[in-house]
Amino acid sequence: MTTTTTTTTTSTTTNDASSAKAAPTPQDQPVVRSLEGKYYTSPEIFAAEQAGVLMRTWQFAGHASQLENPGDYFAFEMSGERLFCLRDKDGEVRTFYNVCQHRAHELVSGSGHASVVVCPYHSWTYALNGQLLAGPNIRAVPDFPKSEICLTGVATEVFHGFIFVNLDPNAAPMDEWFPGVREELGAFVPHIDALKPVEWVEIPEKCNWKVSIENYSECYHCSLNHKTFATGVVKPETYDIQPQGYCLRHTTECQNLDSMTYPIDLDSNEHAGAYSSWFLWPTFSFQVYPGNVLNTYHWRPHGPEDCTVWRGWYTQGGAPSDIIHKLAVQDRETTVEEDIHLVESVQRGLKSRGYVPGPLVLDPACGVNSEHSIRALQQWMREGVEAG
Ligand code: FES
Ligand SMILES: [Fe+2]
Repeated sequence: MTTTTTTTTTSTTTNDASSAKAAPTPQDQPVVRSLEGKYYTSPEIFAAEQAGVLMRTWQFAGHASQLENPGDYFAFEMSGERLFCLRDKDGEVRTFYNVCQHRAHELVSGSGHASVVVCPYHSWTYALNGQLLAGPNIRAVPDFPKSEICLTGVATEVFHGFIFVNLDPNAAPMDEWFPGVREELGAFVPHIDALKPVEWVEIPEKCNWKVSIENYSECYHCSLNHKTFATGVVKPETYDIQPQGYCLRHTTECQNLDSMTYPIDLDSNEHAGAYSSWFLWPTFSFQVYPGNVLNTYHWRPHGPEDCTVWRGWYTQGGAPSDIIHKLAVQDRETTVEEDIHLVESVQRGLKSRGYVPGPLVLDPACGVNSEHSIRALQQWMREGVEAG
């Protein structure tokens, strides 16, 4: 979605007998239809997704630079749960449900710094590793099980400085969900571990989160709807999106980079002239523009027809940058704005009694004008709803 113009990558289909044993043509493949409207409008399906998708997958929580020092914390909401991340004394980033183990008051709000976590209700006090340390008069209770009381932790990984959490206590590590992505990102953005957020653009969208994610995950709509990118840097005929575990990897060759609006030192590293993107199912994407410029997408579903997208932009050490600021503004005014109108129109259409889900355009040769990435996404969506 973030790119560019299109020209069809060809699939070779002929009708003569000699092609009978060739690779399957589109005609040989069963038609795969898009998901029914209810997947994007039904409160029941949204509830099933909370359990089957959002509570079982790796979700972005924040950036490690928000937790510079031991004791730093920030609270957030995700999948209907209130959580908080903190940095422990040993430097480890930990995440807990934001609920006291006494009588369930919330523990922290916003962000801040604390050497211990003190509940505002009756001041039970927890160490930064979640262990209960003290509480007024608890010694009066015979055999008070203090050593057994601990805040409920949440699986947490720091992925090149980006904190991800998973409400499934048995979650497989991110490297299993998204094979190769950590290494590829490190190569495409050599300074990634020194980055801090500098621009954080909030985009409310009146649509189901999956509509927005599907729109991000195909470029079949790009030539018609993204004129800025249509004259941009990628070679659309080389654009492709392929599953890589539960990652959808966008790749493309770039045009001549002379027309870029910012300077790029192509000799500085192997991927300095590259564009690529790694969408991590279900709600986050790392995107790299030429010049090793990292930017991110983060979706948060609020209800069946309501989500927010955040665009994140980063610089080394969080240094102010006119270049990055201008890119963020241009992105918001062009691609993002264009996509808002698309996804909100689709959402209205999905509620129409007149909508019959159409066949996905699946080109065996893949390429920019094929929706094979949507097929993968919709399969994961179906699996998640069934699991919920
Ligand atoms: S609810 Fe937290 S101390 Fe009572
Ligand atoms: Fe788009």
